[in-house]
Amino acid sequence: MVVGTVKIMILGAYGMLGHNLQGVFPGAECFGKELDITEKEVVLKTITASKPNVVINAAAYTDVDGCEDNVDHALRVNGEALAYIATACCESGAKLVHFSTDYVFDGTKQEYRESDATNPINVYGRSKLLGEQNIMEHMEDYRIIRTSWLFGRHGKNFVDTMVGLAGRMEQVKVVNDQFGKPTYTADLAQKTADIIDMEPGIYHITNEGVCSWYEFASAIIPNAVPCNSEEFVRKARRPEYSVLVNTKTGPMRHWRDALRDYLKGFDGTT
Ligand SMILES: NC(=O)c1ccc[n+]([C@@H]2O[C@H](COP(=O)([O-])OP(=O)(O)OC[C@H]3O[C@@H](n4cnc5c(N)ncnc54)[C@H](OP(=O)(O)O)[C@@H]3O)[C@@H](O)[C@H]2O)c1
Repeated sequence: MVVGTVKIMILGAYGMLGHNLQGVFPGAECFGKELDITEKEVVLKTITASKPNVVINAAAYTDVDGCEDNVDHALRVNGEALAYIATACCESGAKLVHFSTDYVFDGTKQEYRESDATNPINVYGRSKLLGEQNIMEHMEDYRIIRTSWLFGRHGKNFVDTMVGLAGRMEQVKVVNDQFGKPTYTADLAQKTADIIDMEPGIYHITNEGVCSWYEFASAIIPNAVPCNSEEFVRKARRPEYSVLVNTKTGPMRHWRDALRDYLKGFDGTT
């Protein structure tokens, strides 16, 4: 895609990924929370009036444990809103790029391809799956990008949490029995530009390399110690092994290389 020749609208533009998307798509029409995606009529009007070529939706309710307490809100933001966002895109002739998650899978299988059966085990995963289903039901020209374990400069994330804890605690316990693929939002935002020009469908886009949260933490801080999920009970169940396999497009770099850039403060998109 030649950035600048198409009209792009970004929803959720001030979240962690949204900030990086703004860097990749300068000149995009950007909306933060002032365009509440649960406001159906406003969303329909905004998209159909603007007539963008591409709508990129990075807005979501991403508090995985919070979703367990706020089920209706999670379903509205992550699920129901996608039905009318898709309808508006369809009416305006816009492509929709939407982000989803590895948590649509239950994590009982080692690896998940784009076509594998979904089976979420928490409310967040259920709500994101509803979003995917609503998009597929209401339009054809969509790209759903499932990704995992995001870290980036513009949001609360695991890397910063570890750095903070390491300074305050002698040892930082981190679970060693959940596996996934850490992904740098700067890399994901760059890759999104390529996906826009690809075939409609579902994409699995992450940095390369699989690790446990403990292995990820050990690459960030010197005083991480392994523990298991039973020692670290959380409100929402997490999949054990939610590794997304990308069968459709070129791989991104290894998460360790991306992490090195992040820790050096390098963010190619802003
Ligand atoms: N973070 C991860 O590890 C991860 C993993 C897999 C997939 N994803 C997906 O990747 C995408 C981007 O994630 P992210 O980490 O960048 O999320 P984020 O930092 O939480 O950004 C989401 C943005 O959406 C906004 N938002 C929430 N409710 C809204 C509403 N009703 N209307 C409009 N905006 C609303 C949020 O505002 P407030 O912050 O003010 O609420 C925030 O600015 C999401 O679709 C997420 O599900 C994330």
